[in-house]
Amino acid sequence: MNEALQQLPPVAGNPRWTGCRCVVCDRVYDTRYEGFVCADCGIDGILDAEYDPAPDTAARVRAEGGDTARGLWRFGPLLPVMPAAIHPAWAVGGTAPLPAPRLAAHLGLASLVIKDDTGLPSASLKDRAAAVAMARARQLGLDHLACASTGNAAASLAVLASRGGFSCTIFVPAAAPRGKLAQLLLHGARVIRVDGTYDQAFEMSLGEIERHHWYSRNCAHNPLLVEGKKTAALELAWDLTNGFTADPEALPDVVFVPVGDGCIISSTAKAFLELRALGLTDRVPRVIGVQAAGAAPLARAWAAAAGGHAAMNGATIRAAVAPVEAKTIADSISVGIPRNRVKAWRYVAATGGAFLAVPDETIITTIVELAAKAGVFAEPSGATGMAGVRAALDQGLVRPGERVAVLVTGHGLKDPGAALGACRMPEPVPPLS
Ligand SMILES: Cc1ncc(COP(=O)(O)O)c(C=O)c1O
Ligand SMILES: [Zn+2]
Repeated sequence: MNEALQQLPPVAGNPRWTGCRCVVCDRVYDTRYEGFVCADCGIDGILDAEYDPAPDTAARVRAEGGDTARGLWRFGPLLPVMPAAIHPAWAVGGTAPLPAPRLAAHLGLASLVIKDDTGLPSASLKDRAAAVAMARARQLGLDHLACASTGNAAASLAVLASRGGFSCTIFVPAAAPRGKLAQLLLHGARVIRVDGTYDQAFEMSLGEIERHHWYSRNCAHNPLLVEGKKTAALELAWDLTNGFTADPEALPDVVFVPVGDGCIISSTAKAFLELRALGLTDRVPRVIGVQAAGAAPLARAWAAAAGGHAAMNGATIRAAVAPVEAKTIADSISVGIPRNRVKAWRYVAATGGAFLAVPDETIITTIVELAAKAGVFAEPSGATGMAGVRAALDQGLVRPGERVAVLVTGHGLKDPGAALGACRMPEPVPPLS
């Protein structure tokens, strides 16, 4: 362990975290298991973290959830690791819910709230996963982390690693936007630009991580990182219900989430299910996953399955979701094989939600509407959840009178070129003489 790491506060495991379960075959692993995926099912055997339903968990969440100075660690009883103290490397979170009445009126909705995660340190929701990665690496004594990424997971790793004194290696598709690459390079990450797709960069990262014994910050297969992403929904639920004391009606009826590998959506749904299981809320919003039409394997398979989604088992879901050749301007969700597809499907089905797809043109229109009518500047993937709202209204998946919440997951300045075509650049005027 390098010297910088020794300066970080120690991190222990959460004694309530009991281990992980394979989403395909249900095999259970305890917390000593060092693999990331199921030993029987291989890379498709994504694991899901489980917790002991201790009788005092709900009381602790109520008591600690208001301590906003702790960032996402205010929901520590629902996370796998427990830092002994707050440190900038892992104290992220706490974005406020933003009511968006003008955008709601524009869409004919009674109520719309935006969980705007563009304000996190690296300007995307991914910091929530990277924070858990930093804490877990500190616990294991590993000073080098690595991931494959379309850009945002990488940026979150580069930024928080720099804060904590970790080193990192990042595998990105060569076509990642320059703004995102700049973020990595300037924070001192070692960047490997893979002349191929995200899926190919992911394959390459797996081999190198194993060879060098780095800590994997690949949410796509590391189940503990996905737990960090639950905290966006936990914060939203806390804020809207005033710490689980207000009218339960204050919870949204439906929550929209953009989907690439399917980690954010799994964790969003899981968070709401856990809150209900703890008795902190009495219902679960329907969670709707939105993919870009050019990279929509889950939305396609969901539509083809036409009912019975909740009854499908892991093996059937795995077989139903066929890989696609991904092509969309929403680079962060340009994913042909969503690694968390089984987990995402099962969690979405458990909330009564759905998957749908939107064309790139709708995503661009939505970027403009979000900025002009709600004051939120999103990159294409960040706006894709919002882009799904109109499609869901059209398809009858949402009624205009329902309470809608949307996760906006990445900042527009990461890829300003994407929406610039929708703006009319003013002609220069001569200066005053
Ligand atoms: C801005 C943004 N939104 C959404 C996603 C999709 O998240 P997931 O891969 O967990 O489905 C990503 C992933 O890179 C992202 O960067
Ligand atoms: Zn398995």
